Amino acid sequence: MENHMIRASNLTVRLSGKTIVQGVSLEARAGQITAIVGPNGSGKTTTLKAVAGEIASEGAITLNGRDIRALEPWQLAVRRAVLPQAAVVAFPFTVREIVRLGLSVGPNRHAERVETITSAALAAVDLAGFAGRFYQELSGGEQQRVQLARVLSQIWEPVLDGEPCFLLLDEPVSALDIRHQLAVMRLAKRYCEGGGGVIAVLHDLNLTALFADHMVMMRGGRVVEAGPPVSVMTDDAMEAVFGCRMCVNGVPSHGIPFVLPQTARV
Ligand SMILES: Nc1ncnc2c1ncn2[C@@H]1O[C@H](COP(=O)(O)OP(=O)(O)O)[C@@H](O)[C@H]1O
Ligand SMILES: [Mg+2]
Repeated sequence: MENHMIRASNLTVRLSGKTIVQGVSLEARAGQITAIVGPNGSGKTTTLKAVAGEIASEGAITLNGRDIRALEPWQLAVRRAVLPQAAVVAFPFTVREIVRLGLSVGPNRHAERVETITSAALAAVDLAGFAGRFYQELSGGEQQRVQLARVLSQIWEPVLDGEPCFLLLDEPVSALDIRHQLAVMRLAKRYCEGGGGVIAVLHDLNLTALFADHMVMMRGGRVVEAGPPVSVMTDDAMEAVFGCRMCVNGVPSHGIPFVLPQTARV
């Protein structure tokens, strides 16, 4: 469907009197992983929060064609779920309790579904058997996967009433080892194959090349380039965005871009 996407047009966000995000437009379609990349402080988190409807912004934001500002909080909560860059848990919650927070609204809040989805979401992030553990006693990477399980359980079905749901993930793999990075990216891909959509802020450019269908490159609160990695990952675009010389090559058998910092050359 033409309007099965999150679309932001000319988004501007001002925080503490400063313009943090300026004139950002992006489209994140159902069925696709959209990656947001860019240096620290380029406005990725702020853009994601604005698109999620969590902070005030100027410009238009639609979810499946509807103005997100016209939706009730519960209507947003059943349609998009947000993994924050850093989640602070101040109370001694168990893993099960954290994941259940994601199930407090929406179509899966009935006891039997809560049980089934909690287990399935924990298994999906390779944390089967962790339900009774205390969150604060887990490693950083395990905590990140618990938060992902919570977010995933909030919109467990990628399509609800014939319309796609969207996972908005701010650096979902930043604390993960390589095997779990791949597992989480595959999970995102499966969500898209099931009809949902994913927006993910990513720092690993090769993981982006491997998994993203569409990428949005930001610098200084603006979008510099957007398109499929194979089109927009050029040496010059990478240098313009990240401020260091990089060499982009295709991995021979697949034609997937592979990014190597030039200074790593021996
Ligand atoms: N609440 C805030 N008040 C003032 N400045 C902020 C606030 N939040 C973020 N910023 C600034 O906005 C810029 C972009 O932040 P952010 O969106 O978190 O960047 P990124 O996620 O790309 O690293 C940074 O320079 C940051 O210091
Ligand atoms: Mg950020």
